[in-house]
Amino acid sequence: VPSYRIGSIPGDGIGLEVISAAIEVVRKLSSTLKTFSIEFTDLPWGSDYWKKTGSYVPEDYLETYRKFDASLFGSVGAPDVPDHVSLWGLLLAIRSPLQLFANVRPVRTFPGTKSPLANPPPEGIDWVLVRENSEGEYSGHGGRSHVGQPWEVATEVAIFTRVGVVRILRFAFETAQSRPRKHLTVVSKSNSLRNGLVLWDEVAAEVARDFPDVTWDKTLVDAMTIRMVNNPHTIDTIVGTNLHMDILSDLAASLAGSIGIAASSNLDPTRKNPSMFEPVHGSAFDITGKGLANPLGAIWSAADMLTWLGEAPAADHLMECVKAVCRAGILTADLGGNAKTQDVVNAICEEIEHRGLG
Ligand code: NAD
Ligand code: IPM
Ligand code: MN
Repeated sequence: VPSYRIGSIPGDGIGLEVISAAIEVVRKLSSTLKTFSIEFTDLPWGSDYWKKTGSYVPEDYLETYRKFDASLFGSVGAPDVPDHVSLWGLLLAIRSPLQLFANVRPVRTFPGTKSPLANPPPEGIDWVLVRENSEGEYSGHGGRSHVGQPWEVATEVAIFTRVGVVRILRFAFETAQSRPRKHLTVVSKSNSLRNGLVLWDEVAAEVARDFPDVTWDKTLVDAMTIRMVNNPHTIDTIVGTNLHMDILSDLAASLAGSIGIAASSNLDPTRKNPSMFEPVHGSAFDITGKGLANPLGAIWSAADMLTWLGEAPAADHLMECVKAVCRAGILTADLGGNAKTQDVVNAICEEIEHRGLG
């Protein structure tokens, strides 16, 4: 059977809790189905590592990282470290240097989960958000001069390259094309951002010509927040810039029930570098160490990792088990239930065991 080597980067806070949950579930899946084998190697990169060594990752981390077939990431960020230090030290030091340029964030309501929307689509929410993940507002360019002076100046430069914009829009059209409704919404802000986002809109129109079977529309990001709340049934696949989709993906996740379920794939569609899979949420200091974290975002991300590796049947099987557990009402507090992280993990493992080979 095929075997996979996964780099596990739990990071900080509830990252450790949800990644150990996801690994337990995937190991159970592998030992039950026996259609693939999988080995997780722990990479202890994170804020504790930084406190010991002064760096979030070892010097040769990219070389280490590249040896795996994929990675599973928890979250990074600690209450006593400035967030820009932790995020640029670890998470953003993987996404962009490795050119994991397509961040795919599916959003779905699960059985038993409730949308806070007054009029959710009758069949539930089923969206895919595609986030540009390597440039834009997260280019890292900019700086500060005259720090602390009244005449201080700080710049935060968003960089949009034609190559970068074309590849993410192509990827988004392909994603929309692969879905039943074949509809793409291109989010931008080309009214006020008259350079990068005008390029974005122009490229969208160019790329669209290669996808005659995909219908598409353009919506400004501010109006998109209204549309997500008031007209959720008009949405299928959404693509936008790094920052815009960061914000819209948290909104979308909570409209579908909770940030705790939201999954994401940081893909290198060229498959030169190992892709990274991570829940959308962060370290959640308020619930760290209490056993309250919803592990479903991490588990769904692990399922998406299996699909990416070529194990779609196993991934689908896992998601059916997850849905059965949700349907049975075994939900963490963020979803209105009273189950703890480990209760959810145990229930999913029992479901896998019970279904056997399906
Ligand atoms: P957060 O996602 O950590 O938490 C926001 C809220 O959602 C909190 O109330 C939290 O308890 C809740 N929540 C998040 N995940 C949950 C889960 N799995 N189950 C139940 N409830 C959950 O966002 P924040 O508070 O803005 O950030 C905290 C830290 O995490 C910061 O340092 C931030 O920079 C970092 N962060 C990291 C990532 C990442 O590594 N991918 C993502 C977002 C934030
Ligand atoms: C996310 C997170 C990160 C981002 C932060 C923590 C750097 O919010 O993955 O959504 O903005 O990309
Ligand atoms: Mn975010």
